[in-house]
Amino acid sequence: GNKIIQAKMVLLGDMGTGKTSLVLRFVKGQFHDYQESTIGAAFFTQVLSVNEATIKFDIWDTAGQERYHSLAPMYYRGAAAAVVVYDITSMDSFVRAKNWVLELQRQEKPNLIVFLVGNKADLEGKRQVGSQEGEDYAQENGLAFLETSAKTAQNVNELFYDIANQLAKI
Ligand code: GTP
Repeated sequence: GNKIIQAKMVLLGDMGTGKTSLVLRFVKGQFHDYQESTIGAAFFTQVLSVNEATIKFDIWDTAGQERYHSLAPMYYRGAAAAVVVYDITSMDSFVRAKNWVLELQRQEKPNLIVFLVGNKADLEGKRQVGSQEGEDYAQENGLAFLETSAKTAQNVNELFYDIANQLAKI
């Protein structure tokens, strides 16, 4: 039969890496060159069907500014999936992403699906974080990995469908 899965998902990552833009691309098919910085967190829902399952995503798009860091546990607690986003044009954002991964690992939630996402893949000329570097770090830490662009939509649906497929398997 068709099973319905309600799943909480959280996006974490440095400010300006494109968390809101990825969600808006996925949920509304939109992209804004001047996306405003998120305050606190924003909430979205989206329904996806994969194989035998319908996944109802509750998506928490957290604010990347450091002053909101202490709020993050409220959003990743109880989450089935976490997407840690960095910007491929910013080595600092990659360092920050690794810190988010460490923080998630400290929660000891073996069933949490964690994706590492290198966003802004359209800005190849400004790249500071190599694809292989992201891929290697993900592999060493048991994370799924994708490079995306919220601007061109590269791998954005793939990201959410990959997560939906993993949730459907549980
Ligand atoms: P905070 O809310 O501050 O945590 O930021 P955020 O991670 O939600 O980033 P946001 O989506 O607000 O995007 C920041 C800026 O990067 C915006 O000006 C976006 O237009 C731009 N941006 C986001 N994704 C991409 C992308 O894939 N490519 C390019 N070129 N720009 C992007």
